[in-house]
Amino acid sequence: MSETRSEASELWRRLDAHAERLRDTRMRTLFDREPDRLARCSAEAAGLYLDVSKNPIDAPAWSDLLALLEACGLPERRRAMFSGERINSTEGRAVWHVALRALEPPDEVARTLARMAELAEAIRDDTLRGATGEPIDDVIHVGIGGSHLGPELALHALAAEAHPRIAVHFLANIDGFSARRLTDRCSPARTLVIVASKTFTTLETAANATLLQEWLAGFDPDAPARQLVAVTANVEAARAMGIAESMILPFWDWVGGRYSLWSAIGLPVMIAIGADGFGRLLAGARAMDTHFLEAPAGRNLPVLLAAAGLWNRSVLGRGSLTVVPYEDRLALLPAYLQQLDMESNGKSVTHAGRPVERDTAPAVWGQQGTLGQHAYFQWLHQGTEIAAVDFIACAQASHGIDGHHRALLANCIAQAEALMLGRDRLRVEADLRERGMSESEAQAVAPHRSFAGDRPSNMILLGRLDAEHLGSLLALYEHKVFVQGVAWDINSFDQWGVELGKVLARRVVEELAGTATPAHDPSTNALIERVRAGGTPD
Ligand code: F6P
Repeated sequence: MSETRSEASELWRRLDAHAERLRDTRMRTLFDREPDRLARCSAEAAGLYLDVSKNPIDAPAWSDLLALLEACGLPERRRAMFSGERINSTEGRAVWHVALRALEPPDEVARTLARMAELAEAIRDDTLRGATGEPIDDVIHVGIGGSHLGPELALHALAAEAHPRIAVHFLANIDGFSARRLTDRCSPARTLVIVASKTFTTLETAANATLLQEWLAGFDPDAPARQLVAVTANVEAARAMGIAESMILPFWDWVGGRYSLWSAIGLPVMIAIGADGFGRLLAGARAMDTHFLEAPAGRNLPVLLAAAGLWNRSVLGRGSLTVVPYEDRLALLPAYLQQLDMESNGKSVTHAGRPVERDTAPAVWGQQGTLGQHAYFQWLHQGTEIAAVDFIACAQASHGIDGHHRALLANCIAQAEALMLGRDRLRVEADLRERGMSESEAQAVAPHRSFAGDRPSNMILLGRLDAEHLGSLLALYEHKVFVQGVAWDINSFDQWGVELGKVLARRVVEELAGTATPAHDPSTNALIERVRAGGTPD
């Protein structure tokens, strides 16, 4: 083992010892003992305020967490990422999405941004028209995973800034109902189709792209050439689909799919909010990049968020991260972060191919507040598992409806407090007795109504939700994922784990079509036969 790895192993052991030492210490006690706790565990940058103080970590443990990151080579790894080194070791690629939002991006990036802006503005001001001269009112963005989640999240979050005439739709799944809903709803005379796929080989996207290409051609033979745009790192494959050079927007193998919102994959966002709005999204991310590069570890938002996560996941063994935006406009954030975190860090071997020392990415899930409060919060407060929670909220809202936003924020703040403080059984009993319940009744009811508390959470507060703040928020999470990957010594930028299912599906498609004989285990064979026979045996 290298010297740094053995130093890291020693620090992990020290963190275990801290956890043991803190096992029976309540978070409220930590606040009493540490007058500087909030100041040490909160920081502000790029329009975001982060508070990680509601985690069961004290100052000595924090300092070892930060020492661990240093020992794992965070400063060097970060420099390597920002300077475009090939840190994606299993694919021999750079991980350079930060270059997409740099103040002075590489030439090919600047050129593509200019082409995107030209196209987006031509649609917005009606100068780009369909094959029969009609304006473009609908945009169908075809793509899945990283080629879908970021654009849809951004569109949903920034709907208030969107062009009033143009509706953007997303077609991700290979589900004919979704495709049919869009072809029924949109007119082929007035629709632009964007086929977004880094590899241009993804089954779902290829099937939907072909369907829509034929849909356009069925309306007018010239429509596909004028109304279908490809966004891809596999320009050759887009050409092979018959798409003209002028309608292909490239990006590059050094942009990971789940880090590609900032590239031409963001075209539908730019069409909706304009080149200027897209520029603000990039500027917000850039502000977070600069902060991540320059701020000392103890004041660095991505580092603080990552360190709290490492403590919960890899020291205390918490298997879940629940993401709860108190903001309907961020309703798609949990799904976006699920891919970002789980596809990046859901790994079991180190760079060197050895089993990891510690548990890696938690299961990431969630739903916006307050909706989640009426569903899974019971589990968060009183379930047998302890999950880490990320609360996300915006201090201001511009909808002008008096009272709503205050109530929304009050719920967010109160839930974080309730998770931490809990409600002691003796106190519950006393309250019940005060309300007239008999001693024996109070004792019987109290266990059901008490809360253990000491459940960890982070709070991220945005000044307001606009393109700039959204950019900072997403970059914060990108860098958090990066920092955790460094601590676990894993490659956060490949996704070999998604391949096997894809390969098997190709074979099963043949077997369902009857052009191949099922040759699997008995359970799989039976399913294939049953589906071929039309389902249930009635
Ligand atoms: O889910 C696997 C994956 O490869 C993701 O990493 C990616 O974001 C998605 O499929 C779509 O890939 P592509 O952009 O190449 O169509």
